[in-house]
Formats: sequence, structure tokens, C-alpha cells
Amino acid sequence: MRAIVTTRNGDVDVLKVETRPDPVPGKGEVLVRVKAAGLNFADILARQGLYPDGPPKPCVMGYEVSGIVEAAGDGVDRSWSGQSVVALTRFGGQAELIAVPLTQIFEKPEQLTFEQGAAIPVNYLTAWALLVTMGGLKKDEAVLIHNAGGGVGLAALDIAKHIGAMTYGTASVSKHEFLKARGLDHAIDYRGQDWLPVLMQLTGNRGVELVIDPLGGSSWKQSYRALRTTGRMGVFGMSTASASGIRGKLRALKALAQTPRFHPLALMNRNRGVFGLNLGHMWDEGEKVVSWTGEIVRGIHEGWIKPHVDRAFPFDQITDAHRYIEARKNIGKVVLVP
Ligand SMILES: NC(=O)c1ccc[n+]([C@@H]2O[C@H](COP(=O)([O-])OP(=O)(O)OC[C@H]3O[C@@H](n4cnc5c(N)ncnc54)[C@H](OP(=O)(O)O)[C@@H]3O)[C@@H](O)[C@H]2O)c1
Repeated sequence: MRAIVTTRNGDVDVLKVETRPDPVPGKGEVLVRVKAAGLNFADILARQGLYPDGPPKPCVMGYEVSGIVEAAGDGVDRSWSGQSVVALTRFGGQAELIAVPLTQIFEKPEQLTFEQGAAIPVNYLTAWALLVTMGGLKKDEAVLIHNAGGGVGLAALDIAKHIGAMTYGTASVSKHEFLKARGLDHAIDYRGQDWLPVLMQLTGNRGVELVIDPLGGSSWKQSYRALRTTGRMGVFGMSTASASGIRGKLRALKALAQTPRFHPLALMNRNRGVFGLNLGHMWDEGEKVVSWTGEIVRGIHEGWIKPHVDRAFPFDQITDAHRYIEARKNIGKVVLVP
């Protein structure tokens, strides 16, 4: 089979399409013929050498795929063969074939294309955990979604709209029109100006009940300031560090140095909460993930979850796909097709 290999840390030229042996499904696994694989920000950071959770290189990245079950391992009902599925994969998804435990797959809803199917797991599970499970977002509360035009951002917007929250989102100005059409109440430019005074003005100086912040460093300090009483801040990434080579290392160090510390007594006295989420550290909590997936699939059937695929790149154009995300060109999901 062909697979996308990150051969070592570096710029996009370290990405190669190589031939690897076909995987064989083990006990409790199915073999999926991949139709589309999600490309995530984590894959970019891993290539840059800034993603500690990644496998040792050379490696095949890929946290999610959609495709057709081609074979079933021992202990798996043969009726799975031929079914269209979506799967969470602990790496290896950016390949023509992958063996996945049955516990990590679900049937692809018929109304989704394979490309849309591959846009579901990482973005929507992350957004669900941030907004619903940990963020406890309620109707009529206000939420600030940073990088609202990204994959997780758009997923969060779908969920926040369904809850009935007032939505604020930061994004590059070129993405504002799209976001408003998707239902974002207030789009804020955060690259050409200081976004905090704008948000405070929009909220009558009260701030918001929930902020989700994947930027890291000094952004977490600002986001904390944006909280209204009983407000919660969910942190889940460090996009500000993204860059290849020494520049990335320096940016990561700067972000770490600027990371604020939150004292429990201050949180108590200000009626605020801070929490973190790393979906990649949830592999031992399969039951929770399955239950969130059930809610997301319900949302697809009811029509309030609408995965948006910006572009599908063939495997051979993997360098263009990485560059596209690094240049912030994507609105929503980028997928790879074999
Ligand atoms: N902890 C978890 O479990 C988890 C799970 C999924 C994702 N994440 C994190 O969440 C963040 C967003 O992921 P995503 O899948 O939504 O990514 P995405 O679809 O690629 O979108 C990311 C958006 O972030 C903005 N951005 C900010 N700094 C950037 C930079 N240095 N380079 C490129 N874009 C930058 C861009 O929007 P603008 O043009 O508006 O600036 C971009 O569109 C990443 O930090 C990722 O690692 C964490």
C-alpha cells in the first residue's frame, strides 16, 4: 500500500509517499480501505518536531479516516465487511489501508461523503468535549471561539449554535463572511488589532462564560481576562509555536515563557475555572468517546452538525496540503485522498 511518511523533522520536503506492507487486521480489528484521511494541525506540528505525542520518525501520521471495511480479524462479525465506516486511528491513517480496533469505528452516516466523514472525529469530538463535557455551555451563555474558521472552530460553532449560545469568534478577516453565513453572531479580527477590547465592548464589558483557546502562551492570559463571573477557559493547543526548524523551537520556548499560572485562591475569589483538553490522551476512556460520538452522529442526522471540507488533496500533493494549512488558507477541514 501507499502511505504518507514523515521521514524526519523539518519543512514540507521531509514528507514522502512510500510503499509499505499491507497491514493485517488482528483480533477485534477490521481492515479499512481508506477513502479519505483527515489532515490535522497536529500532523503539521509533528512534522515540525513540535508535537510530543507523535510517534518516532519515520512515521505515518493520521488520527482519522473514512473508508470501506475490506476484511475482519478474529472475533469480528463478518457482516462488517463492505460497510462504510469512520474511524479514529492512533496514527497510520494517512495510508491506503489501516487496521483499526472495532471499538474505534462507527458506521458512516449515509448523508455524508467519505470526505465529510473524515472531517468528523478529531474536530467534533474535541469541540464536544470542550463545549459540552468540560465547558458546560448553556443556552443564552456567551462563548468565544478562537480560530473559529479552523476545523475545531467550525465544529464548535455548530455545537454552540445548537445549544443556543451567543457566539463570538476570532479569525482572519478573510474568513469572517463565511463564518457569519454559518451563523457566527460576532466575528472579530484578532490579527490586525487587539481583540480583547473589541470583545469587551461587544459584551457590554461583561465578557463571556466560555472561551476555548488553542493558541497558547500570552493568548491564554488575554482569554482569561475575557471571562465573565462563573466563566470557564478551555485550553487545548499551542498553535502560536507553529514553524519549521529553529524558529519553531524559539516560538515554543516563548509561548512556554508567556504561559500564565492560575492560583486556586484567585480562581475561587473570581468565580472562574480553567481546564485543559487533549483528545489524544483519551484512548483509555473509550466509553466516553463512544457516547460523545453518539451525540455527534445524532446531530448529523438532525442536521445541526455540518462538517465543512475546504479541500481534498491527493496523497501526492501532501506538501501542498501542509503548506495550505500553514498559510492559514483553510476554512474548516483539509482531507487527503489516496
Ligand atoms: N487538544 C486537543 O485534543 C486538540 C484536538 C484538535 C486540535 N487541537 C489544536 O487546535 C488547534 C486548531 O486545530 P484545527 O484542526 O482546528 O486546525 P486548522 O483547521 O488548521 O485551523 C487552525 C486555524 O488556526 C489559526 N492559526 C493560528 N495560528 C496559526 C499558525 N501559526 N499557523 C496556521 N494557522 C494558525 C488559523 O486561523 P486564522 O486564519 O483565523 O488565524 C487556522 O485557520 C491546533 O492548535 C491544534 O493542535 C487540539
